[in-house]
Amino acid sequence: MAEIYVLLVVISFACILAVIYLLRKVEYLNRQVRAYQAESSHDDPSDGLPGNYNEDVLESVTVGIAVLDRSFRIRSWNRFMASITQETKENVIGRLYFDVFPEQLGSGLAHTLQEVIETGETREIRNFKHQDKNKRTYVTRKKICPLKRLDGTVTGVIIISEDVTDKVLLGEELRRVEKLRAVGEFAARIAHEINNPIGVISAYAEHLAESMERNPACSRSHVQGLRAIQEEAERCSNIIRNILVFSREAEARLVPVDLPGLLDSVLFLIEKSAENQGVSIEKHYDSSLSMVLGDPEQLRQVFFNLAINALQAMPDGGVLTVRVRREPPVALCAADTPSSDQFRDRGIPEREEQHVAIEFSDTGCGIPEQHLNDIFKPFFSTKAGGTGLGLSVSEGIVRNHSGTITVKSEVGRGSTFTVRLPVGEL
Ligand SMILES: Nc1ncnc2c1ncn2[C@@H]1O[C@H](COP(=O)(O)OP(=O)(O)OP(=O)(O)O)[C@@H](O)[C@H]1O
Ligand SMILES: [Mg+2]
Repeated sequence: MAEIYVLLVVISFACILAVIYLLRKVEYLNRQVRAYQAESSHDDPSDGLPGNYNEDVLESVTVGIAVLDRSFRIRSWNRFMASITQETKENVIGRLYFDVFPEQLGSGLAHTLQEVIETGETREIRNFKHQDKNKRTYVTRKKICPLKRLDGTVTGVIIISEDVTDKVLLGEELRRVEKLRAVGEFAARIAHEINNPIGVISAYAEHLAESMERNPACSRSHVQGLRAIQEEAERCSNIIRNILVFSREAEARLVPVDLPGLLDSVLFLIEKSAENQGVSIEKHYDSSLSMVLGDPEQLRQVFFNLAINALQAMPDGGVLTVRVRREPPVALCAADTPSSDQFRDRGIPEREEQHVAIEFSDTGCGIPEQHLNDIFKPFFSTKAGGTGLGLSVSEGIVRNHSGTITVKSEVGRGSTFTVRLPVGEL
C-alpha cells in the first residue's frame, strides 16, 4: 500500500514538472512572436503615421488603377483614374463598369476582361480611345491583370491605365501632316504635267476661233464651240494654277502692272460664258489710276477666281460689276511703333500709302452668314465640283502683295469681294 502511495506522489511530481516545463515553453514562444512583430513593425514605412499605407500608395501612383469584381462591378478607383476619366470615385464605386462607360461596350474591352477572368492571364490594350463626358478624346494604354487569391482563384480584374493621349494624338497629327505634304507634292507634280497640254488646247482653240471669225464662210456655232473649248481649258488651267500656288506658296515678283488691261484680259476670258448665262458685265474704272506694283500672273489669278465665283453664283443671269477706285490714303506706322498716336506725339511724320480697291460685285445667290468665316479656308466649298482653293489661294496672293481681301454679302441679293492693294512706288 505504501509503495502505491509513493508511486502516486512521484507521478504527481512528474506531472507538475511537465506542466511547469510546458508553461515555460509557451512563454518563450510568446516572447519570440512579440519580438518578431516588433521587428516587422519597425520595417513598415507607415510606422507611426496615421492612415492606410496601401491606400496611400494606390492614390499616389500616376497611372489609373481600377479594380472590378467578376461581374465587372467597380470595387476600387484611384485618384489618377478619376482624373483621366473625369469620373469621381464616389460616382463609380459599386456600379457596373459598363453602366458608367456604356460607349466602351462595343470596343472589345468586355471581351478582354472576360478573357482575363477565364484564363487568369494578363492582357494589354495598346491605344484605347475614349471620350470623356466633356467630349474630350483621350487615349490610354491598358494592362488588365487578374485579381487572384493566394490559392489562385480569380476574383476579379485590375485595370491599369496609362494616359498616352498627347503621345498618340501628336503622332497622328504628324502622320496626317506628312500624308498631306506627300499628297500636295503629288498633286503639284500631276498639275504641272497637265498644265502644258491644256495650254496647247487653249491656244489652238483660240487660234482657230480667231481665223474662223475672220472667214465669213465659217458658221457662228463652230466659232462659239471653239470659244467654249478655250474657256473650259482656261478654267482647268486656273484650277491647276491654284493647286500649284497652294502647294508652293510662290513669292510675288513685283513689277508695274496695267490694272485695267489685266482686268479686261480676265473678263474677256469669261465673256462668252457670261453671255450664255445671261450675265452682263459692267466696268467702272477710275481713269486716274492705271498702274500698280504687283505680280501680273498672280493678280490675274485672283481676279479670275473672283470672276468665276461671281458667274457661278448667278446661274440664272444677273450683273457682274467690276470697279477700280483709289482708296483714301492709309497712314502706316513703323513696325515697332505701337500706335499712330504715339507716332504723332513724337513728331515723326506718318508715311501715307496709296491704295487701290478692286471690287467684284454680283447679283447672285449670296453667302449665308454661317459660311462667311469659312470661305477663305482651303478646301471649303459648297459647289459639287469645287476644290475650295480659289479664295484661299487668292487671299494668300493678296497677302503676299501686302493687301487685303474682304467680302460683304446678302443671301438672295449678291456679294461684293473687295481686294485692296498698295499702289507701291512705280
Ligand atoms: N460670289 C460668290 N457668291 C456666293 N458664294 C460664293 C462666292 N464666292 C465664293 N463663294 C462661296 O465660297 C466658297 C469657296 O469659294 P472658292 O472659290 O474658294 O472655292 P470654290 O469656288 O467652291 O471651288 P474652286 O474655286 O476651287 O473651284 C464657294 O464654294 C461658295 O460657297
Ligand atoms: Mg471658286
